[in-house]
Amino acid sequence: MKRIALLGATGSIGRQALEIIEEHPGLELVAAASGTQEIDGLAPLTQVGGDLTDLLERAEPDVVLNAVVGFAGLPATLWALERGVDLALANKESLVSGGDLAVAAWKRGGGRLLPVDSEHSAAFQLLEGAEPETVDSLVLTASGGPFRGRGLGELADVTSSEALAHPTWSMGPKITVDSATLMNKGLELIEAHYLFELPYDRIEVVVHPTSVVHALVRFRDGASLAHLGYPDMRVPISYALTYPERAATSIEPLDLAAGLILEFRAPDLDAFPCLALARAAGEAGDTAPCVLNAANEVAVAAFLDGELPFLSIAGVVEQTLAQIDCPPVTDLAELTAIDAQARRVASARTRELVH
Ligand SMILES: NC(=O)c1ccc[n+]([C@@H]2O[C@H](COP(=O)([O-])OP(=O)(O)OC[C@H]3O[C@@H](n4cnc5c(N)ncnc54)[C@H](OP(=O)(O)O)[C@@H]3O)[C@@H](O)[C@H]2O)c1
Repeated sequence: MKRIALLGATGSIGRQALEIIEEHPGLELVAAASGTQEIDGLAPLTQVGGDLTDLLERAEPDVVLNAVVGFAGLPATLWALERGVDLALANKESLVSGGDLAVAAWKRGGGRLLPVDSEHSAAFQLLEGAEPETVDSLVLTASGGPFRGRGLGELADVTSSEALAHPTWSMGPKITVDSATLMNKGLELIEAHYLFELPYDRIEVVVHPTSVVHALVRFRDGASLAHLGYPDMRVPISYALTYPERAATSIEPLDLAAGLILEFRAPDLDAFPCLALARAAGEAGDTAPCVLNAANEVAVAAFLDGELPFLSIAGVVEQTLAQIDCPPVTDLAELTAIDAQARRVASARTRELVH
């Protein structure tokens, strides 16, 4: 029996995780947390908001599924990694913001870091057992979001309800907007760098509208392996929670006879500048990814509130990065201070750019 602590139980990932746990007799939900919604009775131990590491201390789980959205998930990520408790990670923002601290904690703790993001779950499976020197490069696929194919000039007036209409994935609001700006793929690029210890110039992003191929690895002998499946987050959630068992699920297998469209193209970095901003922040290193993430969280919240125009999300992120030094940090307290500073700068920029 694996004892699961589910953080972010009321969200899109959290609700799908509850389905998987319910279906699998070897998984037991021992603790659940949300940010604001009541979850009394959902698990033996529950917590709404507050310090999630308090809940984890009491629950003593075998696996932490971190499905919180945003930087708020970082203390729980570090808690699990430091103790060598298996971490099923959906909360990509924690690895983006605190990548250096997280990798150091992971090495000290010696536990498993099992990605839940579909692309990273796919890459994890493709890379498992591969000698690093045989790997040439990793390709992450992006659906392109609801505005795929539009030029910069056609994005000025898009609304939050248009941005929230994702063509292939049904997800929480923040990640859906990130998918529309392609910042989501930028965050995933940084996430992949930390998870798989690959330099940025060996991680490529391609647009793949049907979201059937989740990731592809090119090997040094000219062979490429791809991971395919319908876009359904229950697959990577189940994989991470039941690893290494790869338990059966009720999800339909790929029907090749029904026809599959496997089309790929380069992303339009002019229309979707967030992807290039994320790559540059990742390459700059130190706390640049933390500042990028904080500014993006502020800008996306303002866009969802109907205050900030869509194209100004990238502007807020770029201007915040330009205004902060992004020094290296040695602990969570220092990183939290940089995150807070970035939020202050981003909020000021946002106020200047509101409608
Ligand atoms: N959805 C997907 O398909 C998908 C795919 C890949 C990766 N991810 C990643 O998974 C994470 C969750 O995404 P989502 O789409 O599930 O988001 P979501 O639907 O917005 O859910 C967010 C969850 O986090 C909780 N939460 C927010 N702030 C919290 C805090 N301070 N303390 C405790 N809980 C807090 C929310 O609780 P309340 O409901 O009480 O506010 C909710 O349960 C994100 O990092 C996202 O990038 C999601």
